[in-house]
Amino acid sequence: MAGCQGLVLLCALLWLIFVGDTTAAICSPTLGPAGFEECVNLYPSYSNRSQWATCLTDSYIRQKSKGRHACIDTRATYCWYQCMIETYEIGPGYPAPSPVYDDCACGSDSLRTTQRPSSMSTLPPWCFSPNGQECSWYKQCLEKRHPCEGTQSAYAVTYAEKFCNLYTDYARYLGQTGQNWTNAVRKCLQVALVTTLRPWVTISCEKIRQMAINSHSECYLAPYPGAPSICDLPATDWWKIFWTIKSGFLSSFVESLNGLFDVLKGCQRNVLDNLKDMVKFKFYIERENFKGQNRSTLEELNNLSEAVADAFAWKLGWSDSGIMWYAYYNFTTFNSTVPVEVLITAKGIYNLDSPKVSNFNFTAVIDRVVKAVHDGDLFFTNIGDKCEPIYVKQMRECVDFECKQTNQEVTSPPKKCNSPNQEVTSPPNKCKSSAFGLTNNIMHTILSFFIFLISIAVI
Ligand SMILES: *[C@@H]1O[C@H](CO)[C@@H](O)[C@H](O)[C@H]1NC(C)=O
Ligand SMILES: *[C@@H]1O[C@H](CO)[C@@H](O)[C@H](O)[C@H]1NC(C)=O
Ligand SMILES: *[C@@H]1O[C@H](CO)[C@@H](O)[C@H](O)[C@H]1NC(C)=O
Ligand SMILES: *[C@@H]1O[C@H](CO)[C@@H](O)[C@H](O)[C@H]1NC(C)=O
Ligand SMILES: *[C@@H]1O[C@H](CO)[C@@H](O)[C@H](O)[C@H]1NC(C)=O
Ligand SMILES: *[C@@H]1O[C@H](CO)[C@@H](O)[C@H](O)[C@H]1NC(C)=O
Ligand SMILES: *[C@@H]1O[C@H](CO)[C@@H](O)[C@H](O)[C@H]1NC(C)=O
Repeated sequence: MAGCQGLVLLCALLWLIFVGDTTAAICSPTLGPAGFEECVNLYPSYSNRSQWATCLTDSYIRQKSKGRHACIDTRATYCWYQCMIETYEIGPGYPAPSPVYDDCACGSDSLRTTQRPSSMSTLPPWCFSPNGQECSWYKQCLEKRHPCEGTQSAYAVTYAEKFCNLYTDYARYLGQTGQNWTNAVRKCLQVALVTTLRPWVTISCEKIRQMAINSHSECYLAPYPGAPSICDLPATDWWKIFWTIKSGFLSSFVESLNGLFDVLKGCQRNVLDNLKDMVKFKFYIERENFKGQNRSTLEELNNLSEAVADAFAWKLGWSDSGIMWYAYYNFTTFNSTVPVEVLITAKGIYNLDSPKVSNFNFTAVIDRVVKAVHDGDLFFTNIGDKCEPIYVKQMRECVDFECKQTNQEVTSPPKKCNSPNQEVTSPPNKCKSSAFGLTNNIMHTILSFFIFLISIAVI
């Protein structure tokens, strides 16, 4: 079948020239316009059932099919692209006709009456053949056609735009490979969602979110034949992208980015080995109230890790010293001792949003952590969703990202009872005072929303 796929475009074209009625939409090879759709019957190469075809740019078709399909007319900028090949990669069948599935069928062959959604008419042609360079595509096209922001299944317009603008705003800070990768990925991410704009598509916000999630790892690994993969990025470029995206959201969010690390694990070369200009800690936290009744979920422990690191940052003045942190839980045990992984760097090094800093001296930051653990100062009374007391028992400063080797290991003294400091050792949070109740509820909602948004970046 693969050999015939290119012909499909020709079939659609011929049909419209010879059979198309006078009301048929046009698709000029030079002018398009993109987005016009037509109901075509391609019997006998497909079953005797009409399907949709859309006028699209050759460049979109090549990107969408990862180079497998193109306009037959090599000089054409635009040509017809039919639903079965665009959606299912099912080209015309010889001699047995290929099927036409329900969601591609149109006209009297459609099982449902397809109504052109009213929002459709307001979508400009460029929405249908995004070139990846218009970061407003998410708001102007996707969100207009499917208003999902603010629903339970919001697609990360915020995340996607942030990523898209990374290239526009910061390409000059990345190497050539990093630039090419970012540019290819942002195009890949848009193209992956274009089919949802078609007028015959009825799709839930949750399904769109799923489609977006599924496209991420594929787009990161292989955005386009010939474009670099995430595995080809130099470690410094990858960390710049990671920290810049992270900084675009509330100072702390967790589980979300772990998935990115999993994508990197698939690479032959270990991008993560290089901890240049970063420090990785592993803190062993004692949960004082933990009775061992119910196992905590991974999400709870990730939430806890995040809250713990925020408390450290508050206590140790990380923000003021220009430090950014990323904290997460990486499954090892479920008991009262929780290993919390904390990665820190200086804003001016990897966050492209911040003014540049070179030769940041991490020694003072590390020394302060070591002293705090050594003195048993990292005790907090109200941490996380459960407002629980936690105490740092031990800390390892790691040589490598996975903490296979340690530079130093510090153990805390047994916790002092009735420490006079006890009352002031928790950062202001929702546990502290009812006066903050309303504000914190709102903050909590906003925070959940962002965590939800960013979670699409995971897979
Ligand atoms: C295709 O279907 C139409 C209506 O369903 C029918 O009139 C026509 O004869 C069919 N053509 C072939 C070749 O089967
Ligand atoms: C980046 O893309 C440009 C233009 O497509 C190409 O000439 C260059 O070789 C690419 N560089 C790398 C390192 O991929
Ligand atoms: C343990 O889980 C059960 C069911 O999920 C719940 O009803 C119970 O309150 C939990 N116990 C504690 C101590 O959290
Ligand atoms: C989680 O732990 C496993 C096993 O030690 C390790 O291979 C992996 O790299 C860790 N993941 C992260 C994100 O630290
Ligand atoms: C928790 O589990 C780890 C590994 O299974 C073990 O080394 C540690 O001693 C346990 N901690 C407690 C308090 O039981
Ligand atoms: C970094 O700071 C520490 C003390 O804070 C100092 O002893 C050390 O010399 C500094 N290192 C460099 C390279 O400046
Ligand atoms: C984790 O934190 C988020 C945001 O604060 C919250 O919505 C979610 O319910 C928490 N998850 C668990 C299991 O507590």
